[in-house]
Amino acid sequence: MIRRVASSFEEWRDAARGLIARRVAPEFVEWLSKPEDGDLFSAIPDEEAGTTPARDANRGRTPDGVRPLSGGEGAPAMAGGGEPPATLRLPRQLMELLDSAACFSAPDRWAFLYKVVWRWQLGEHDVISPADPDGARLHGMVKAVHREEHDMHAYVRFRERKEEDGAPRFVAWFEPTHEVLPQVARHFARRMGNVTWMIATPDKAVLWDGERLHEAPSLMRSAADIDDAGEALWLTYYRSIFNPARLNADLLRSHIPSRFWKNLPEGAIVPVMVSAAANGERRTGQTGTVGRRGGATTIPIAAERAQPKREHPTTLDQCRRCDLWENATQAVPGVGPKRARIMLVGEQPGDQEDLQGLPFVGPAGAVLEKAMAQAGMERDSIYLTNAVKHFKWELRGKRRLHKTPAQKEITACHLWLEEELERVRPDVVVALGSTALKSVLQDGAVTMKSVMGAPVQHDGRWVVTVYHPSYVLRAPDEATRQQAYEVIVEGLRQALRLSNG
Ligand code: URA
Repeated sequence: MIRRVASSFEEWRDAARGLIARRVAPEFVEWLSKPEDGDLFSAIPDEEAGTTPARDANRGRTPDGVRPLSGGEGAPAMAGGGEPPATLRLPRQLMELLDSAACFSAPDRWAFLYKVVWRWQLGEHDVISPADPDGARLHGMVKAVHREEHDMHAYVRFRERKEEDGAPRFVAWFEPTHEVLPQVARHFARRMGNVTWMIATPDKAVLWDGERLHEAPSLMRSAADIDDAGEALWLTYYRSIFNPARLNADLLRSHIPSRFWKNLPEGAIVPVMVSAAANGERRTGQTGTVGRRGGATTIPIAAERAQPKREHPTTLDQCRRCDLWENATQAVPGVGPKRARIMLVGEQPGDQEDLQGLPFVGPAGAVLEKAMAQAGMERDSIYLTNAVKHFKWELRGKRRLHKTPAQKEITACHLWLEEELERVRPDVVVALGSTALKSVLQDGAVTMKSVMGAPVQHDGRWVVTVYHPSYVLRAPDEATRQQAYEVIVEGLRQALRLSNG
């Protein structure tokens, strides 16, 4: 058995080259990992401009105090069939895979990498295919290492210290699963200019003195060893950028794996903020009041769905003519061409419309769209709006269920419909349901029955009345559903005829 010691990719590569030259099969090699030694903060040679690749720190270093243990150097060479070439020639792609996989923490990693190389030398080029068991392991290792690098870029938190004692100004603690500290150090060296910093991990530390990277054994055992100065500042910063309205706790958790949380300064406050947001604070971003109303009024919607489409509040958003704004995400204005011959008026935004800031984008909208298509109405040529612009709802279980607006709310919101009618100047208005009809005719007592099927003139334009599309969805049986749907389609056809006449 031949023993080889490697503590870095470069050492392993040199050893592997020698073994291949002698055609030593993997089963005759025992690989040992050299425990980290060296002086405190041994300088790492420069490589890239302005930065020093810490991973290559061990390149060319003699493994001080640790000599390769030579068990039968004249050991048996070949195992298995075939005679591999004595010169190690690997394609770049394989070298890169090996280089990355070498950072994977596994006791047998050097032996495994040598097996890969050996198989490659034997002509088994499938060894780098993910379909090959060894290839699959190799790719899995590389993937895990890249993920760890990414996580470390994202979750290393530098804490500021006093620099007076010659210590680095910023210090971070991290517990990487794989040996990615050198690459990560290069990443930060490129980004942090000449301020001094140190990243400590349980077994190694890397120091940037403003010009060069140095590697050292870690003198720290946990994040608690780092001076806490600057922590309060960081927490204040984090709190201030934390927007509950945008919080998606699941996403946050999936992005910040829990193993990192204990070492993140904000880890202590994130769970508090998440639960506060889940209890309504996400809404305070829009309305200010829902979050303060406890108990059953908690809004159970995922926050990422609560993103208003509009970046800036409109005058309509600022409407306080009735109380409905308090519990709505946003006001939902009408949409459509500047001038449209036909305006369809619904009741009020539903759950989907409230979240998206657009009318008729939910299930009722789907029914309406189908009916419009069947009537030969092009949606793009129609102005679509609602009598009431804020979503009125009540909580049932985890759902926000539509609640019919009261007459005082219809009256308060009429101003906005009036403004749209004046601006768009349609020839025909289709009132979808009772609330719309009351608003359009400005008559709180009017009934659907009295006007349905017979267009009426109002304020110099035609008003056609049909069922609201959600009535089709709620109809108790198929016959009623079909009948209600036909009424809508026929009403829309009628509106088209009137607009052309
Ligand atoms: N119902 C309406 O009346 N309007 C909408 O925008 C959606 C559902």
